[in-house]
Amino acid sequence: MPAKLIVQGLSHHYPDEYTGESVHALDDINLEVEDGEFVSVVGPSGCGKSTLLNILAGLLPYREGSVTVDGNVIDGPGHDRGVVFQEHAILPWRTVARNIGHGLELQKVPKGERNRKVKEFIDLVGLEGFEDRYPHELSGGMKQRCAVARTLCADPVVMLMDEPFAAVDAQTRITLQEELIRISIATKKTILFITHAVDEAAFLADRCMVFSRRPGRLIATVDINIPRQDRNWNEMSSNSEFTRARDQILKLVRGEVSADEA
Ligand SMILES: Nc1ncnc2c1ncn2[C@@H]1O[C@H](COP(=O)(O)OP(=O)(O)OP(=O)(O)O)[C@@H](O)[C@H]1O
Ligand SMILES: [Mg+2]
Repeated sequence: MPAKLIVQGLSHHYPDEYTGESVHALDDINLEVEDGEFVSVVGPSGCGKSTLLNILAGLLPYREGSVTVDGNVIDGPGHDRGVVFQEHAILPWRTVARNIGHGLELQKVPKGERNRKVKEFIDLVGLEGFEDRYPHELSGGMKQRCAVARTLCADPVVMLMDEPFAAVDAQTRITLQEELIRISIATKKTILFITHAVDEAAFLADRCMVFSRRPGRLIATVDINIPRQDRNWNEMSSNSEFTRARDQILKLVRGEVSADEA
């Protein structure tokens, strides 16, 4: 079976309107994400991670290279890709239930079926009792749970996440990471997850892709061979595969960061 997400020879330059020179953000990216695989991307700040995600989401047009999801060339946003950003991922004027069901409304899914699915995903992310609340009535962690449920409820082929847990406190972040593991087991979704945090990248993913400083190139791929059901933070400090993978990713990222500082 071909990979769900295929990126070939993708480069990106942003035009600079002031100097007339362009900013070279991505350089010849080649990667594949298999069906049901969880892949994380780490790299120094400004290396082009969000640029990659925005191209995959169809929010940023690209000219160099090719990107396909399920064999279809990406040329704009589509139901086949669900995106969760760091913030502002839910609509403030809609309740939790109506945020989660939004994608189904757009797809004109009948109300009965829509309500059933919304309930399923409210239960999955633990937001029972908050169906009729508005985003300003929720904590940061609950907002991100709502955003994850909203994306999953539309049943995308690939879920794209750009530092979704960066804005919540450390305790909530750990809980959300464990919940995302549980959700990935329950839904078997194909997930591309961008993060600064090396621990998070190693904890969540089957494979971690490390990017160089700008222009972002893929410098290494690190496999993390830990069954998904064994991934909880109590076990990880004594899990040698986790510490090996995390240390390897850290070395690769720090190599890039210190070269950058020099
Ligand atoms: N709209 C834009 N116009 C011009 N340059 C941009 C634009 N967006 C990003 N850039 C530049 O492209 C480069 C990559 O930016 P990008 O946001 O993809 O980095 P990132 O890896 O996501 O960084 P961070 O980890 O800080 O979120 C940066 O040098 C940035 O200044
Ligand atoms: Mg970014």
